[in-house]
Amino acid sequence: MKTVIARNIKSLRILLDKEKKNKIGLVPTMGGLHEGHISLIKKSKSLNYFTVVTIFLNPKQFDHKTDFLKYPATEKKDITLLKKLYVNIIFIPRAEEIYPKKFNTYITENLLSKILCGRKRKNHFTGVLTVVLKLFMLIKPEAAFFGEKDYQQLLIIKKMIKDLNSEVKILECKTIRDKYGLAYSSRNNLLNSKNLATARKLNYNLKKSIKIKNKPVQQVISFIKQELKKEGIKQVEYLEIREDKNLVEAKRMNQNNLRIFIAVKIGNVRLIDNIKIT
Ligand code: PAJ
Repeated sequence: MKTVIARNIKSLRILLDKEKKNKIGLVPTMGGLHEGHISLIKKSKSLNYFTVVTIFLNPKQFDHKTDFLKYPATEKKDITLLKKLYVNIIFIPRAEEIYPKKFNTYITENLLSKILCGRKRKNHFTGVLTVVLKLFMLIKPEAAFFGEKDYQQLLIIKKMIKDLNSEVKILECKTIRDKYGLAYSSRNNLLNSKNLATARKLNYNLKKSIKIKNKPVQQVISFIKQELKKEGIKQVEYLEIREDKNLVEAKRMNQNNLRIFIAVKIGNVRLIDNIKIT
């Protein structure tokens, strides 16, 4: 089937009305598509979902206008790729379509959103949840696909689903990395070659925490920070070890189901990553 593009809600509704019998798999993105996004789309297709991909650079989840403005938009390339993947519908709305004048209703989660990426970026997760819920209301998917790369986002979306009794199935997908372990991210395109080489040291150094069993958590964090510093990664926004179900801070390294979470700036580019360590 041919891929069709909807650029406004009216045409999206017309297209979806024709597909009432199909079960929809939704892959929300902000564009700048890469291998990580592709894995989500392939998973939706492999489960035989009528696959809708959205490309919407959501202004409400950016705290800084400069970060929003320099986010890599590659719409033409993205569309070509999505056609090759036989995506059924691509929804590319303009900001005014999603947030018309006087838009004033937001979804806020009040616990998990306050830590890690939510500590400094105050409205970030409200922006994410508001747009994700709007996409669920518009597209009515049976399943929606999200990556572990944004692990906190994934948990907060699952929490929203539970709290609001939504029936959308949230299907999580493993983080896809390049051969150096760097997680694919649209922001990687903003790194110059020197900073890209530095970013590729990130994952390898996080993995060092897996082998340390009997040390206090804070000692492990200080050790990883030192290791990162040696590689030239000095601007660490956070580096924390938390339980992976509820994001409670780890007490000991011998607990089960711990994850290490990091946000750093390399050059001017903010990158996040997380890995399961126990
Ligand atoms: P974006 O950063 O474009 O990511 C879209 C989806 O791709 C998210 O579910 C994200 O976790 C997943 N993803 C990104 N990099 C990945 C990787 N290397 N491996 C696997 N999955 C990866 O996340 C957002 O957009 C937005 O917050 C959004 C949910 C679309 C709401 O605006």
